Amino acid sequence: MTNRYGSQRDRATGWGDTGRVGALEVRRAVAGDFEEWLALFEEVAAEGRWIGAEAPVDRDRARRVFEARLDSEQAATFVAETDGILVGHLGVDLAGGVADLGMMVHDRHRGRGVGTRLLEACIDWSRAHGAHKVTLSVWPHNERALRLYMSHGFGVEGRLRRHWRRRNGELWDALLMALVLDTSSPSSPYE
Ligand SMILES: CC(C)(COP(=O)(O)OP(=O)(O)OC[C@H]1O[C@@H](n2cnc3c(N)ncnc32)[C@H](O)[C@@H]1OP(=O)(O)O)[C@@H](O)C(=O)NCCC(=O)NCCS
Repeated sequence: MTNRYGSQRDRATGWGDTGRVGALEVRRAVAGDFEEWLALFEEVAAEGRWIGAEAPVDRDRARRVFEARLDSEQAATFVAETDGILVGHLGVDLAGGVADLGMMVHDRHRGRGVGTRLLEACIDWSRAHGAHKVTLSVWPHNERALRLYMSHGFGVEGRLRRHWRRRNGELWDALLMALVLDTSSPSSPYE
């Protein structure tokens, strides 16, 4: 298939055939990233097995979420670009000192460190914004995501059983994972 991630771009950059990785840049999203951001979101949602959102994506809601994170002190979107193409993004929302993230990388660009760079940017941002913890939800079958999170110190804090209704009627479990950033404040005295 030839699209912005596809064969023409592969020949130009060496992605795919040679495995050569173009320079990867991770930065805060700007308003002009919306269309590419949405396209990636829709493609990953259409895969139907990795993220909570399913196709068709509610584009108005997606736009509201994207725009709310621009220039916010309480939220951020990071995008990963290689050779000018948006290949991954991560959204994070901070509430009560807890930073909750969701992320995705285009399927042709997975397993090459893009997710690692996005996650590191998110952890840095969370620390800089005073978060004491970073959280996320992940499907138990998502081995690549689990490995990424665990290698960055996240632990499983719980399993929501038969929690999320999929559009086909199935009920999927989800794992709640977290990285504690503040390990020095006192814990509850009542434990
Ligand atoms: C999960 C995801 C964000 C990870 O990003 P990525 O760019 O593929 O990840 P990286 O290349 O940085 O590799 C992350 C880890 O996975 C490992 N990995 C790579 N390919 C793998 C595979 N096929 N199976 C298991 N682990 C794999 C890497 O070795 C690395 O482990 P390490 O940190 O211990 O070295 C990305 O694969 C993705 O977008 N998947 C679909 C959407 C999704 O699952 N989003 C997250 C929902 S919670």
